[in-house]
Amino acid sequence: MIPGDKTPIVLLGANGQLGTDLSRQFQSETRELVALTRQDVDVRSHEQVALTMERLRPGVIVNTAAFHKVEACEDDVEQAFAVNCIAVRNLARVADQLGAYLVHISTDYVFDGEGRTPYAEDSPPNPINVYGASKAAGEFFVRNSCRRHPIVRSSGLFGLAGSSGKGGNFIQTMLRLGRERGVVSVVTDQILSPTYTADLADMIWRLVAAESQGVYHVTNRDSCSWYEFARSIFELSGVPSDVLPVTTASMNSAVRRPRYSVLANRRLESTGFGLMRPWSQAVDSYLQAAGVKLGPGRAALEVGVKGATN
Ligand SMILES: NC(=O)c1ccc[n+]([C@@H]2O[C@H](COP(=O)([O-])OP(=O)(O)OC[C@H]3O[C@@H](n4cnc5c(N)ncnc54)[C@H](OP(=O)(O)O)[C@@H]3O)[C@@H](O)[C@H]2O)c1
Repeated sequence: MIPGDKTPIVLLGANGQLGTDLSRQFQSETRELVALTRQDVDVRSHEQVALTMERLRPGVIVNTAAFHKVEACEDDVEQAFAVNCIAVRNLARVADQLGAYLVHISTDYVFDGEGRTPYAEDSPPNPINVYGASKAAGEFFVRNSCRRHPIVRSSGLFGLAGSSGKGGNFIQTMLRLGRERGVVSVVTDQILSPTYTADLADMIWRLVAAESQGVYHVTNRDSCSWYEFARSIFELSGVPSDVLPVTTASMNSAVRRPRYSVLANRRLESTGFGLMRPWSQAVDSYLQAAGVKLGPGRAALEVGVKGATN
């Protein structure tokens, strides 16, 4: 950031899972954060977006707004592209006209998951579902319409606010199902790097401070299957629940999902930011912050659980 720059920073999707942590972790003695929710601005309204940005004249815009319920995107292609692509094109053009720096959040789902080694920032996207295609198309417009931008791809987000778009995150869902049923079935053949939104938010503010450009993969370190992720949640929380390993094929889902969507955080390393901590440590921190008591007893659970997710 230019020293002494006093233009505001506008955050879109401020009440979402990542948006909440970005708001919470924002630190600047000189700049104002204008945190906007869908009630303030619907990103699908190009007029609202343009008028709001022209009035606020932000130096930085951070876009976390998305329609990312994967099954719902498959059923409502128009909505997926309206929010994740066409609105992003409009936003990118407005940002560019104002000379603003646009931080756009994207996803591991831009990849097909057929690889067996982590995807680098320059690996070619090849989405296999509507959500991934709409996000890849949104990225395309950011790259081509706004001169000053980073695109931050992440994966498997969990944050204290829970995902508003999905009605809760995976950890909340596992804890709720584990407590209700004592057993959950989770796929072993989809591999990812679960990422804590508090860690991601911290890294995004560091990228903004350095005015980083281009694509960045930002995830917690190491990878696991959703099955391993679930097991670790129960081990760390002390909630007694069995986890049954199942295959994606047995779930009969109408949506194809990448089998392997681990992101190599190469640019974080090469540009000196360094890697984030391992996902298991981040889950531990999340559970502590959520009020789950850890330690030898590991039985007490006082976590707020919200809705269902995939
Ligand atoms: N969740 C994941 O596992 C995951 C993984 C990889 C990448 N990502 C990406 O990370 C970003 C943040 O995800 P998240 O988990 O924080 O999602 P989230 O909790 O669902 O937050 C998304 C935000 O977007 C807002 N929004 C949706 N449609 C909007 C519209 N038409 N106009 C204005 N705001 C709108 C939502 O507002 P409402 O609350 O009013 O709906 C919500 O505040 C997204 O870009 C997503 O694609 C997520």
